[in-house]
Amino acid sequence: MKGIVLAGGAGSRLYPLTQVASKQLQPVYDKPMVYYPLTVLIAAGIDEICLISTPHDLPRYRQLLGDGTQWGIRIEYREQTKPAGIAEAFLIAASFIGSDDVTLILGDNIFFGGDAFPRAFSEFKSGATIFAYHVNDPERYGVVEFDSEGRAISLEEKPKQPRSNFAVPGVYIFDNRVVEIARHMQPSARGELEITDINKTYLQRGELRVVRMSRGTAWLDAGTSSSLHEASAYVQTIEKRQGMKLGCPEEAALYRRFLSVAQFEKLVSMMPICEYREYLESVAIEIQRTRTFGNLSL
Ligand code: DAU
Repeated sequence: MKGIVLAGGAGSRLYPLTQVASKQLQPVYDKPMVYYPLTVLIAAGIDEICLISTPHDLPRYRQLLGDGTQWGIRIEYREQTKPAGIAEAFLIAASFIGSDDVTLILGDNIFFGGDAFPRAFSEFKSGATIFAYHVNDPERYGVVEFDSEGRAISLEEKPKQPRSNFAVPGVYIFDNRVVEIARHMQPSARGELEITDINKTYLQRGELRVVRMSRGTAWLDAGTSSSLHEASAYVQTIEKRQGMKLGCPEEAALYRRFLSVAQFEKLVSMMPICEYREYLESVAIEIQRTRTFGNLSL
């Protein structure tokens, strides 16, 4: 399974913050936004990741994330010259995907809690798996409708009159046929290759699995000034209360054994003295002591 983090777009709703750094590089409490979706992929066991962003912003991502070897993974980069739609990611990254299955995650989606992703990744065999999350304002999202037996029966992108309160979050697992499907798509009325149209193709073929995320899971989007602030406040609250951080790629890489404890400790020792380093040092101590990740929530 390969992974794609889509981190392009203009970020115009966050102007003037996005004049110098793209939306997904903005801080969500104590780390850059892109760390959170990246950590979801690493925690799911994906160690080959392609980050897509604008030609203007890619150098900053390379500077931040490098080639991934520091985390025992591989990160490649591809350019999206214009925001021509989420589904264009499969065309841009076709050579990276090769003959593998692929998970796409949006660079501004932040998740916490629940086991929906690890389960869905390990159960995935073919077709497509997407998620459904109950929200108050479904008209802002892709919306999935279920029949009385819980089967998905329709999908609509930002409907004026949503048929349900279930929004589709920005994590999508596809088999390799997604590349071919994207190649034959037409842009929507707003000129974009729509991810919802890909999902609809799998739905029509009877090959779409929709996993409902449990109540206890948090899905935050950080696309406006106030939602960015709320996401930061949320992360701070959880981290302070639990003494565990969300969205740490280093921790996820250790958990997945992409890094040995010795490699992890070496990486941490090279960080400047700061709260982030202190936290990772405490993770290393905990692991040495308990030899388990049992009660660590990534
Ligand atoms: O957040 C989940 C929602 O994401 C889904 O429910 C919708 O079905 C899906 O269309 C999408 O809706 P948004 O309105 O949030 O899409 P937006 O255009 O804001 O793009 C989401 C992220 O993807 C954003 O961080 C920018 C990035 N992006 C978007 C487009 C269209 C790109 O990097 N390139 C693009 O071409």
